[in-house]
Amino acid sequence: MNKHLKIKKICCIGAGYVGGPTMAVIADKCPHIKVSVIDKDSSRIKMWNDNNLENLPIYEPGLKEIIKRVRDRNLTFSVENDSYIREADAIFISVNTPIKSTGLGAGQASNLYWVEKCARKIAKSAEGHTIVVEKSTLPVRTAEIIKKILHSSLKNNSSENAPTFSVLSNPEFLAEGTAINDLQNPDRVLIGGEDYSAINSLHEVYSFWVDPKKIITTNLWSSELSKLVANAFLAQRISSINSISQLCETTGANISEVAKAIGSDNRIGNTFLNAGPGFGGSCFKKDILNLVYLCRNFGLSEIADFWEQVIIINNWQQDRIYKIIVEKLFNTVEQKKLVILGFSFKANTNDTRESPAIKIANDLLSEGAKLTIHDPKVSKDQIEKALDNSFKKSKNNALNKQEWVYEKSIYKALENADAIILLTEWDEYKSLNWEIISKHLNSPAWVFDTRLILDENIIIQNGINFWSLGKG
Ligand code: NAD
Ligand code: UGA
Repeated sequence: MNKHLKIKKICCIGAGYVGGPTMAVIADKCPHIKVSVIDKDSSRIKMWNDNNLENLPIYEPGLKEIIKRVRDRNLTFSVENDSYIREADAIFISVNTPIKSTGLGAGQASNLYWVEKCARKIAKSAEGHTIVVEKSTLPVRTAEIIKKILHSSLKNNSSENAPTFSVLSNPEFLAEGTAINDLQNPDRVLIGGEDYSAINSLHEVYSFWVDPKKIITTNLWSSELSKLVANAFLAQRISSINSISQLCETTGANISEVAKAIGSDNRIGNTFLNAGPGFGGSCFKKDILNLVYLCRNFGLSEIADFWEQVIIINNWQQDRIYKIIVEKLFNTVEQKKLVILGFSFKANTNDTRESPAIKIANDLLSEGAKLTIHDPKVSKDQIEKALDNSFKKSKNNALNKQEWVYEKSIYKALENADAIILLTEWDEYKSLNWEIISKHLNSPAWVFDTRLILDENIIIQNGINFWSLGKG
């Protein structure tokens, strides 16, 4: 390896779902590196510093044990402070990159406002040589913008000590719920860049725990684009299997059997073939929309149309599940008690961003249903915010928000229910006692299993109607 800067101090801007766990793992694996995570949101930082580790701002299995080991050893969380930027050898930009809601590209293009702010702040405060690492997911060629901002700050600085920068792309592939394991044992680490010395510096950090064979280096644009394409391919598999789920319902085939049969082919592979209520999470939708936007911008309309279809199928799946529920309940859910089990977008996370539960709950509320919502990790406040935003977006202000309640106890939630709609595959829903539950339901009652985790036979034996996704 060529001579390169040894990274001793890292600063990460953004203490979110990526910044927090990623820096915790780097600090854990590299005790010789001082890692500081800064964020503009003081309430979030306060939660990261809470003595009670149950109050960390995100729930991720294995996270609190690491935080206990490294916090205040070589990992700190603080509100923005220029001194961390000044002292850092490497700065990770790990801020949010949502879809633009207004202006040019609204609804599709990434909003780079926060990334640009970070670049300006780094340009203003950095000293010496700094490696700037794109950790956020970004449109291909964003590094060009970051470089321009960093270098424009140097124009008026002719001193010998003027700062210098290298920009690298190092996208994150962790999935929520398994973030710690994904970070500790990644399938690969991707580093894109032009400056080999900077690439080697970052390579060295990861080599402390990742097999060097798994550290892939590419040019900047391949790295930025690979992140968008990885998410697009994963989401495409979900829309593909979800599209077949309806065909199964119509023909008498069974989606689990079909997934097993096709997944046994090594070329297809058996992961990411679980049919469900559609993908949620903060990234799949935004990253595909961004890919679509980029393709249209480059005049590649056929490619844009192809990827857009993945989103269309995802929306359709959520819509059709809601319609099936209404139809099975004699075409009206007005004043009926419907219980939603699971509000996070997948199990083992408290994240509700783009959760299918939001749209399905919103649609059922607009039909006049009375919802009771249960989730083991999502708080009432979070649900309220998610539903409020969704009401605003759908302009469905006529909704009476009093028609939904939050219930912490599952069994209490299910009392006198007309229907139970399972939307998130939390483990505790797999072992419910249907004999007890059946005694407290209204009759006839329905169970809708959109995650294929419940035992159909036991539920039917207890006199409850059962609908499962993808079963004819
Ligand atoms: P997040 O919203 O949880 O966290 C982003 C944080 O950045 C927020 O706390 C916000 O206050 C802070 N921030 C924004 N601008 C700032 C600024 N100028 N100065 C200081 N702090 C600032 O977002 P996230 O889920 O961690 O995602 C971050 C990026 O990583 C996104 O680009 C996302 O696409 C990508 N990503 C996310 C995941 C995931 O599982 N969530 C996985 C891989 C990649
Ligand atoms: C996803 C990718 O898996 C990560 O590699 C990526 O880093 C991340 O997006 C990102 O860029 O944000 P995440 O959204 O956290 O991670 O979770 P996934 O496990 O991918 O699940 C996404 C959605 O797809 C969930 O709603 C999940 O329930 C759904 N899903 C997943 C299915 O419906 N079926 C499956 O077989 C797998």
